[in-house]
Amino acid sequence: MNILRNDIPVGLCSDHAGYELKAIIEGYLESNNISFEDFGTFSSESCDYPDFAHPCAAAVEAGKVYPAIAMCGTGNGIGMTLNKHQGVRAALCWEPELARLARAHNDANILVLPARFIAPELALELIDVFLSTPFEGGRHQRRIGKMPVGNCK
Ligand code: RB5
Repeated sequence: MNILRNDIPVGLCSDHAGYELKAIIEGYLESNNISFEDFGTFSSESCDYPDFAHPCAAAVEAGKVYPAIAMCGTGNGIGMTLNKHQGVRAALCWEPELARLARAHNDANILVLPARFIAPELALELIDVFLSTPFEGGRHQRRIGKMPVGNCK
């Protein structure tokens, strides 16, 4: 079981701090025949994560990629930016159970990784868990329905 959609690629984005990890993840996706679209950054030169987060988030919202994987040094800056988009539920994860619950309970559509704080092997494990965990729905569907601003009483 995985959450991949055959007709659209996985989205990827990072800043310079996540650039090396993004390259490792691309190799991993390629070796597993998983297609992806890379929204940058495309070098380790210092840059600003919103420049890459916004196009990636917009593509998730538009149904052009699903899911997405994003990373910066801590995961916080890029995650905060992604979550400005109403259709995005980006979850910062650094252990497998967080990745599982982000999918099962929050229907997260972007996995956010703290590239300077986790080993590449753990990042790949987090991706495996994220991609293989379905959303449980039920009471969690009601809760995520209340996430957008204005959807609560
Ligand atoms: C870049 O130095 C760093 O600030 C960035 O990758 C991220 O950690 C910000 O939240």
